[in-house]
Amino acid sequence: MTEDRAAALAAIAEQVRVCTLCRLHENATNGVPGAGSPNAEIMFIGEGPGYHEDKQGLPFVGRSGEYLNYLLNLIGLKREQVFIANVVKHRPPENRDPLPDEILACKPYLDRQVEIINPLVIATLGRFSMARYFPNGKITQIHGKPRFEGDRAYIPLFHPAAVLRNPDLRRDMEADFKRILEVLEQLRQKRAAQPTASPPPEDEPPQQPTQLKLF
Ligand code: URA
Repeated sequence: MTEDRAAALAAIAEQVRVCTLCRLHENATNGVPGAGSPNAEIMFIGEGPGYHEDKQGLPFVGRSGEYLNYLLNLIGLKREQVFIANVVKHRPPENRDPLPDEILACKPYLDRQVEIINPLVIATLGRFSMARYFPNGKITQIHGKPRFEGDRAYIPLFHPAAVLRNPDLRRDMEADFKRILEVLEQLRQKRAAQPTASPPPEDEPPQQPTQLKLF
C-alpha cells in the first residue's frame, strides 16, 4: 500500500518534472511536485515555489520553510510525517502570484496527490490554496476554523510568509497550528470507527436486497 502510494506520487513527480502545460516551466530550474510521507495524515498546500524551492526542487525550503518547520516542531511533527505541496509546481517569475490558467493547468497534479494520500487534514497556506476549498473565504475571519467533510477537515491558515512579514499574526498562527492536532485526533477516531468495506466470501451467493420489515 505504502509502495503503491509512493510509486503513484513518484509518477506525478516525473510528470511535473517534464510538464509544459503552462508557461511557468519556461523560466523554472526545477519542478517542485511536493514532498513528504505518502501516508501523511496532514497535507499542507502552499502557493508556489520561490527562489530556493526552484533551485532545490523541494517545497518550503526558504525562510517560509524555516518558519513552517518551527510550527511543525511546535506541535511535535517533523516534515517527513506530513506532505507539503503547492497549487503550482513551477516557480512564477519574480515570485508573482500564480495566474488562474496556471493554477488550472496544475490542478490535476494536486487533485491526484490529494486522492493518493487521502489525508485526514488538509491545511491551506495562503489565499491561493484557500480558494480551492473556501472560494469566498476571508482569511482574517476563517483562519484556524476547520470545515469537516466526511472523515476529513479543511483548515485555512495564513501563509508563513505573511506571518513573517507581520509578526502580529504569530500568536494566531501558532494557535491555529495547535488546533490541527485536536482536529486530527477527532478524525482519527472517526475514521477508525468506520466499518471497512470488505468483499463477500467467494462461495457466498450474492445478497438479495432485503425488504425492510415494517411490522
Ligand atoms: N511559498 C509557497 O507557497 N510555497 C513554497 O513552496 C515556498 C514558499
